[in-house]
Amino acid sequence: MTEEYRLPNSFETARYLLRRVRLDDAQAIFDGYATDAKVTRFLGWKPHQNVTETTAFLQIATSEWESGKGFPLVAFDRQQPAELVGMFHPQVLGHRVTFGYALRQSAWGKGCASEVMGWLVAHALSHSQVFRAEAFCDVENLASAGVLEKAGMVREGIMRRYFRHPNISDIPRDCFLYSKVR
Ligand SMILES: CC(C)(COP(=O)(O)OP(=O)(O)OC[C@H]1O[C@@H](n2cnc3c(N)ncnc32)[C@H](O)[C@@H]1OP(=O)(O)O)[C@@H](O)C(=O)NCCC(=O)NCCS
Repeated sequence: MTEEYRLPNSFETARYLLRRVRLDDAQAIFDGYATDAKVTRFLGWKPHQNVTETTAFLQIATSEWESGKGFPLVAFDRQQPAELVGMFHPQVLGHRVTFGYALRQSAWGKGCASEVMGWLVAHALSHSQVFRAEAFCDVENLASAGVLEKAGMVREGIMRRYFRHPNISDIPRDCFLYSKVR
């Protein structure tokens, strides 16, 4: 029988180290970006008020890894391995793998997300059961659209009224859909 798609517990790209998220990453995620309204602007959750909220999120995230439904990863710059840079979150939906990501502001604009997403997309599509790597972003999230394009994805269109970004408003917003297929 063919094995289901999984991520390794840790791996490296040219400049970054990624590993499976742990519950004890909560403080670093809270301090790094979970309270930052600029980081969460185009995410589906509001800035965390206390580290208990971050821990609750990580309880769900770590259980996803156990079930094989998703593989939330924390990222570190290989030159500065003590500082958590952000998270990447591949999720498996049959033959599709979808992706989310967020980085602390001090890591923006250095090509981190493009480099890691390039690795993740290539890894997913190299598995015999995965035919489509997919992600969406708010139509105003130009940085995220740039990441997906640099990771080799193609914009397929606009999904209208697709997702609520509660830091902008309660009204569902239009999102770009991106994919790379094989
Ligand atoms: C989106 C995010 C992950 C981008 O990470 P990053 O590592 O800074 O992105 P990169 O440096 O790889 O940028 C990739 C490309 O995106 C584009 N880009 C990056 N920032 C941009 C900005 N502020 N405005 C417009 N385009 C931008 C550029 O084309 C860039 O390529 P270039 O540097 O060769 O010109 C980061 O801004 C972030 O964490 N944002 C908050 C969370 C979020 O919105 N996540 C995505 C939800 S869908």
